[in-house]
Amino acid sequence: MNIYPESAMRRQFLKQPIFWLPVVGLILLFLAAAGFTVQNVAAAPNPQREPPSDESCLFCHQQEGMTIDIGEQPLSLTVSGDHFSTSVHGVEGVACVDCHTNIRTVPHPEIIADNSREFTLTFYETCRQCHSEQYEKTFDSVHQTAIVDGNLNAAVCSDCHDPHSQPRITDETTGVILSDARQDIPQTCAQCHGAVFEAYAASVHGATLFTEGNADVPTCTDCHGVHSIEDPNTNTFHNSIPSVCADCHTDEVMMSKYGLNTNVLDTYVADFHGTTVKLFEEQFPDQPTNKAVCTDCHGFHDIPKVDDPAAGIAHKSNLLVKCQQCHPDATTESFTASWMSHYEPSPETWPLVYYVNLFYKFFIPTVLGGMIVFVLSDIYRRFIVDKRHKKNGKDASTK
Ligand code: HEC
Ligand code: HEC
Ligand code: HEC
Ligand code: HEC
Ligand code: HEC
Ligand code: HEC
Ligand code: HEC
Ligand code: HEC
Ligand code: HEC
Repeated sequence: MNIYPESAMRRQFLKQPIFWLPVVGLILLFLAAAGFTVQNVAAAPNPQREPPSDESCLFCHQQEGMTIDIGEQPLSLTVSGDHFSTSVHGVEGVACVDCHTNIRTVPHPEIIADNSREFTLTFYETCRQCHSEQYEKTFDSVHQTAIVDGNLNAAVCSDCHDPHSQPRITDETTGVILSDARQDIPQTCAQCHGAVFEAYAASVHGATLFTEGNADVPTCTDCHGVHSIEDPNTNTFHNSIPSVCADCHTDEVMMSKYGLNTNVLDTYVADFHGTTVKLFEEQFPDQPTNKAVCTDCHGFHDIPKVDDPAAGIAHKSNLLVKCQQCHPDATTESFTASWMSHYEPSPETWPLVYYVNLFYKFFIPTVLGGMIVFVLSDIYRRFIVDKRHKKNGKDASTK
């Protein structure tokens, strides 16, 4: 049975710390949060004031599902604080407002863009402040040229580097590209070059990059460059292909790991196709050549192992198709035998060529040597022996 009136009980309860501690705490927390945002963001722009902190921006922008519509298109406004703090910019202390230099207040200045792509294209320019070297390299790249020509889907900085989560790419002390970053390159390009990526990923080069993290095989940027990617349809690029491939394929240390020959460039340059292409590369790099380069026989993104049963060109039937691109009259597999491949002639592979070469190796020095001996003996006879004879004759007459 309760002997106290109810009002007295309520009064008693209100005096307990268990009631007022949480309430005061909540009020203090609310004031702190409000003061924080007001001080950092909502205040009028004031050059004397500290710029807004990352925390104050993330206070709103960390919310899931935050979007606005630009034109008809939604733009996601959510930025993960966790991703940002572990990104290279977060780690290096680059603040939100170092890139977002126009944002100091809430509401922010009005967005000047008709759609989300335009927003990206106007805004990536902010990278130039700190990365002018990379920025300038992109000027003549295929991507910038495409944008100037009106193809707004071509890549700019923030398409290949998410500014809010970009990890470090190069080692801080050595400047060498990190292996994880290297392995990610094809995926970066795959966002927009999906078909090329598929072909590359199945090729002898792509396969081991993904399965074993092989650091020797080429990625997109080894053949195309990075920020100054040039147009692959020009004569200059075409004529330079043998040197691009030879960079690795003449490297004894690298190729010995895979049991591959390093004579592929020398034998190519020695044949009727390569001699011309090499000459063009050195003397007339921007002139067209119709002779075969490495990629005409091997392919470029989809290069298989040469002994691959389905597509490998060590099989005559697969090779003939490649020759036919330029030699349409070649109808039988025996045509491929008109060419020595990358083999240097030996008694086993090309006996006729080998013995003819060998013959000339001895024949030419013998003939040339014989002629020199002949000429020298002739000189000796004409000038020295004759003179001596004449002199002897004179001596005899004056006696
Ligand atoms: C009080 C919540 C709030 C805070 C704090 C805030 N924003 Fe925003 N932000 C918004 C809203 C809402 C939008 C949607 C566009 C608008 O209304 O201006 C927006 C849009 C943006 C955009 C997209 C387009 C644009 O330029 O308006 C960027 C970039 C941005 N905020 C960056 C920041 C940065 C950087 C900070 C910290 C300095 C920040 N925001 C702080 C609420 C906030
Ligand atoms: C290294 C420069 C850089 C830093 C640092 C940076 N941003 Fe951005 N931010 C950009 C660029 C560039 C864009 C436009 C990218 C795009 O459209 O994909 C952008 C876009 C945005 C947008 C619009 C939505 C979007 O993702 O496109 C918001 C919101 C935003 N940033 C907020 C922030 C906040 C909050 C921080 C700090 C935690 C921050 N940014 C740090 C460069 C930066
Ligand atoms: C306020 C200066 C600043 C701005 C603006 C800026 N960055 Fe950076 N960025 C840095 C710093 C500092 C580093 C760390 C560099 C280092 O240690 O070599 C860095 C590193 C990077 C890296 C990794 C480099 C490496 O070698 O690992 C990339 C990629 C990058 N930034 C891209 C961008 C892009 C894209 C933009 C524009 C959206 C941008 N940055 C804007 C300062 C900036
Ligand atoms: C088409 C994709 C692409 C575009 C566009 C691009 N990058 Fe890169 N960037 C890369 C790749 C891939 C790497 C890795 C480096 C490598 O392969 O050598 C890289 C490397 C970097 C690095 C590390 C240092 C270096 O030079 O290797 C910085 C910094 C950088 N980029 C900044 C930028 C900036 C700033 C822009 C815009 C002006 C930009 N990037 C545009 C793909 C791109
Ligand atoms: C944001 C999308 C995007 C990304 C990411 C991108 N590209 Fe592109 N790329 C384009 C567009 C668009 C074109 C121009 C249209 C075309 O010719 O296919 C282009 C053109 C090219 C061309 C010239 C093609 C031609 O036939 O003239 C090459 C080469 C190229 N890109 C290589 C790369 C490489 C390598 C990467 C990664 C490091 C990359 N791209 C990343 C969109 C992108
Ligand atoms: C082993 C060298 C090599 C590698 C690796 C390579 N490419 Fe290429 N790529 C070439 C050559 C050579 C051409 C030009 C072929 C021709 O038309 O003569 C080319 C052409 C292109 C083209 C234009 C023609 C087309 O097929 O669309 C694009 C785009 C392209 N490459 C993107 C990429 C991307 C993205 C990657 C990585 C996933 C990549 N390349 C990897 C050598 C390479
Ligand atoms: C006219 C066609 C043709 C051209 C041009 C050509 N190759 Fe080959 N290549 C072949 C054929 C056919 C084989 C297979 C030979 C065999 O095993 O029977 C081969 C084999 C190879 C191999 C495998 C070698 C080995 O040890 O198994 C490599 C690597 C190679 N070529 C690279 C190149 C490079 C690099 C170039 C340009 C400098 C080039 N090729 C030019 C047709 C060609
Ligand atoms: C960055 C170095 C690098 C570049 C550039 C490069 N390759 Fe390779 N290539 C390799 C490596 C490493 C292998 C061995 C991969 C394996 O077996 O896992 C290989 C394998 C091959 C093979 C398969 C040989 C066989 O049958 O096992 C051919 C063919 C080939 N490359 C042709 C080319 C051509 C053509 C080019 C130029 C368009 C080229 N490569 C550019 C490194 C390179
Ligand atoms: C990209 C085009 C191209 C490809 C692919 C190609 N060739 Fe040729 N080849 C030429 C041209 C051009 C000449 C010079 C023709 C001339 O001067 O009459 C030539 C010359 C030759 C010659 C010298 C005799 C002659 O007809 O003048 C032989 C033999 C030959 N090629 C064999 C081959 C074989 C075998 C293959 C396949 C493994 C092949 N070629 C692939 C373009 C090519």
